Amino acid sequence: MKKIAVLGFGVVGSGTVEVFYKNKEALEKKAGDELDIKYILEVRDCPDERYRDKFTKNFDEILNDPEICVVVEVIGGLKYSYGYVKSSLEAGKSVVTSNKELVAAKGAELLKIAREHNVNFFFEASVGGGIPIIRPLNQCLSANEINEIAGILNGTTNFILTKMIKEGMGFDEALKIAQELGYAERDPSADVEGLDTCRKICILASLAFGKHVYPDNIHTEGITKITLEDVKYCESMNSVIKLIGFASKRGDDIAVMTCPAVIYEDSQLAGVNDVFNAILVRGDATGDVVFYGKGAGKLPTASAVVSDIIVAAKSENSSKSMHWEDCGQDFIIPYKKLSNKFYVRAKADRKAVESIFGEVRFLSRDGAPDDECAFVTHPINEAEFEEKCSDLNVLGSLRVLEY
Ligand code: HSE
Repeated sequence: MKKIAVLGFGVVGSGTVEVFYKNKEALEKKAGDELDIKYILEVRDCPDERYRDKFTKNFDEILNDPEICVVVEVIGGLKYSYGYVKSSLEAGKSVVTSNKELVAAKGAELLKIAREHNVNFFFEASVGGGIPIIRPLNQCLSANEINEIAGILNGTTNFILTKMIKEGMGFDEALKIAQELGYAERDPSADVEGLDTCRKICILASLAFGKHVYPDNIHTEGITKITLEDVKYCESMNSVIKLIGFASKRGDDIAVMTCPAVIYEDSQLAGVNDVFNAILVRGDATGDVVFYGKGAGKLPTASAVVSDIIVAAKSENSSKSMHWEDCGQDFIIPYKKLSNKFYVRAKADRKAVESIFGEVRFLSRDGAPDDECAFVTHPINEAEFEEKCSDLNVLGSLRVLEY
């Protein structure tokens, strides 16, 4: 019998317990052993909770219990999680987590500790919710040199953008629904300001390129400045706006960024709506492979957590954890050196635009004021773009990304 402890009983924690007990018999067959959840660490009192007999408020009870071989961290954040995960690994227990903040900030260190103690540190649920991406990238695609990863990695913002684009719903109302559905972070600014996407693309980049990419070094923009005017102009050029995280190999270096971007309708990422995520991985042997599914929510995320529990339970006494190096960040190309086409909406006339940007593609929308002008530039370096924009009354701008 393998005993498990679940740290946290919020959306993902309760989903994990639900999926575990719903499918327990089948899971045990897959694990080749009996399994049970012995503890649930939760600070709240939940007297009506079905599994209340397993509840404890004392982490040390879990840490010091030799029966526990897998600790599942679904608390989120760093404050408690980092210490709990680190001490669990050091105590010889495997850890499964859905915590992207933890993996993005401390992944290299925790993977090293896991290896040193011959246990596993798994985090399939940290990226893409229910979409299998970490293990496929680490195992099934390992024959490839990965040249590019680009994805819609945040369910909340994709849900909000879809509601705005398809139903003309206001930002705040759409965010409220996303929160009610359990998609958003406790502090949803991490979703809408792009940080959650940034953490996820950092995890994928670290895995694909073998070096820890820290979120602090990555240029990150969210979706709060997007307007329905921008949506309309993009429609006129057969495109949609999506929050994209990308990591792209350029020689020995990589370009990594999180930004809302204009995506042409013929891209596989353009039709990804609501809470769905999609991750495009470009390998030198496979070409493009796209992973698609629900990127947030209780049961999809729990699916990834429970699958990791099975692998961890099966792999007791053997470290199957992945690895990436903790090194300087000089392999990350400063974003100002990158080049893109840009969509721009400005208060300006066409002549002024052409005198600054040269030849551009002008766009139109119904009801646009006479002094408003929207256009797409030719590919231009970020620093040069910023400089040119300082001569123009820019109302909004987005990168145009082609996938
Ligand atoms: N807040 C995250 C999202 C949860 O909306 O994608 C899943 O990581």
